[in-house]
Amino acid sequence: MSFWDESIKIGNRTFSRFIGGPLDGITDSPFRQLVRDFSKDELLYTEMRHVRCVANDKGAAKALRFEQFERPLNFQFAANSPEFVETACNKVLQAGVDAIDLNIGCPARNVIGSGSGSALMADLHRLEAIVKAFRAAVPLPLTVKIRAGFKEKNAIDVAKLLQDCGVDAIAIHPRLQTQKFEGRPDYAYAALVKQAVSIPVILSGNIVNFKTAQLAYEQTGADGFLIGRGIWAKPWKLQELKAHARGEQYVVDNQTVMRYALKHLDGLISYYGPHGLFVFRKHLPFYVKGHREATELRRELLRANQIEHVKEKLVSFFGA
Ligand SMILES: Cc1cc2nc3c(=O)[nH]c(=O)nc-3n(C[C@H](O)[C@H](O)[C@H](O)COP(=O)(O)O)c2cc1C
Repeated sequence: MSFWDESIKIGNRTFSRFIGGPLDGITDSPFRQLVRDFSKDELLYTEMRHVRCVANDKGAAKALRFEQFERPLNFQFAANSPEFVETACNKVLQAGVDAIDLNIGCPARNVIGSGSGSALMADLHRLEAIVKAFRAAVPLPLTVKIRAGFKEKNAIDVAKLLQDCGVDAIAIHPRLQTQKFEGRPDYAYAALVKQAVSIPVILSGNIVNFKTAQLAYEQTGADGFLIGRGIWAKPWKLQELKAHARGEQYVVDNQTVMRYALKHLDGLISYYGPHGLFVFRKHLPFYVKGHREATELRRELLRANQIEHVKEKLVSFFGA
């Protein structure tokens, strides 16, 4: 069995090495449902939700509105104190998930402004209290998604602390908060984090195909590989990675891309109502990218207000 066919053990569960990462506003329930047409067993993260919102049902109804066939799911939380952790976790556990994740990597100003996300990497005392509250509340695998650090690299110390608190796996996106999503992720530093702990380490950053996954493995020794932007408008991506890891061909023809663009739009409308058309605008450019005349189509459809019009245009675009 090759390295890529082996699974990774997170707590008492095993998962494929390829994992669908969280992209807020992108990898929502309708998108995850599309992924499940191709990949049944791969772990998928939900988008990040603050424990306070879930505990107080503020926006939580939507956060907890997912289908059981989207599982295995790793529900991702943000938190800035241990308050609400237990209540929020209980709600999510009742909804049915397979793992719970704490995000301490988000660089967004409004998130770090409240002391959540990557700001926690600069406050180990508070981080420890929060992680201990999660560990006490979560009988499932508990993971934490980190960065290289907040303003300065300290992921090695953070990883050791998380392991000592009983966390089952770490996902690292090896950039600082100041780098947001730009610049090269520091794989060499991620390799040091991997060497510093014995729990599984999942690498996030610039993995878009099997070649980049192999490179990430060679340079970091990571156990798992989180696909972020590489899955955007490519719900078959995890399946493609698995096929390429086995040396098999994986061809996605235009008809499949069209079918999934249309299915995605339908899924967004049924989940969000008519607003789903506006949500689809974030996905549309990625479905048509690389095709001739994509620019004109994009320009036209990003202004379109009629669902049927968008569908007809997509059909004639891909059918042409
Ligand atoms: C639009 C967008 C939304 C994101 N939302 C989240 C999120 O909710 N939670 C999280 O942990 N990371 C989030 N990330 C970070 C990704 O999960 C990932 O770590 C990062 O993009 C690097 O990986 P990539 O190069 O494969 O995209 C987001 C990234 C982008 C670009």
